Amino acid sequence: MAASPTIPIACSLTAEDLQDREGAWRKLLGTSLVEVQRVPGGIRLSVHRESARALGTLVALEQECCPWMQSLLDGPTVTFTASGDGEAAILDMFAEVLDCRILLISGSLRIGSTNSATVRTAASVIVAGVSTEIFEGMGELPHFNPDDDIEALHPAVTHLRTRLAAADAVLFCTPEYAGALPGSFKNLLDWTVGGGTYDKSVAWINASAGSGAVDAHASLRTVLERTGTDIVDAACAHIPVTRQAVGTDGVIEEAVIRGRIEDVLGALAERVRERRAARVAQKVATTVV
Ligand SMILES: Cc1cc2nc3c(=O)[nH]c(=O)nc-3n(C[C@H](O)[C@H](O)[C@H](O)COP(=O)(O)O)c2cc1C
Repeated sequence: MAASPTIPIACSLTAEDLQDREGAWRKLLGTSLVEVQRVPGGIRLSVHRESARALGTLVALEQECCPWMQSLLDGPTVTFTASGDGEAAILDMFAEVLDCRILLISGSLRIGSTNSATVRTAASVIVAGVSTEIFEGMGELPHFNPDDDIEALHPAVTHLRTRLAAADAVLFCTPEYAGALPGSFKNLLDWTVGGGTYDKSVAWINASAGSGAVDAHASLRTVLERTGTDIVDAACAHIPVTRQAVGTDGVIEEAVIRGRIEDVLGALAERVRERRAARVAQKVATTVV
């Protein structure tokens, strides 16, 4: 059930009490957390069965100071949900235990694409606190037409926006065609103008092993600036990938390349974590009454 929109998203604790509460959550989750799941509107946390009572105590306290948040307690599991901005506030509250979810988008439709191989490799490396998802579906998107950016969207557009909404960050990897972005990829980006990437942390890997794809990436930067994304320069990298570097399974084996891709994901996740922490700090400063 969603929280009533008439209840403001605010915590009634003093700054000092809030610190104590955060400490109590940190202690409980640091020692007893079993599973974290995102659910529509919020988050579900499960702790060890023997910590169910401690969880119940904290949940009861949260109900008092944060009535905008719905909580459903079931033994060692609690589900916190809220509507509207409340969902983001809940995710911020539990940012420390949440993975950074990165959506990976290749700008190429070519089967043997080195850019798509780079994306697949990014999905195959393991970086602590990071989970990845490859966006499949660029080829199904209809030609962008602002007249069609209305209710009852094309399912492929809904799919794109749903996957973007579920991600904390987006990593792009695109070739350059004739001095510009590939048309299919620009088409995808055009569909994000109406929603999906605003204020989202983004980066790219330029995998060009040839003439540099410099213009495509300058253009990508322009588009990402105009659509209001948070471009993470520390995570943007030029990692040349030749066709020979791609294995028969479509993934890059070379340790140096894999290591650099891990660094990109790590830098992007670091930015997401920094921004989550800043949002929490800002909320503490502005909403405590
Ligand atoms: C039709 C076509 C045009 C290209 N034009 C450029 C270009 O203008 N500048 C550039 O740096 N690379 C250009 N390339 C190379 C691509 O950017 C890319 O490096 C190459 O296609 C490998 O990417 P992929 O394996 O993902 O397809 C072009 C490739 C193709 C197929």
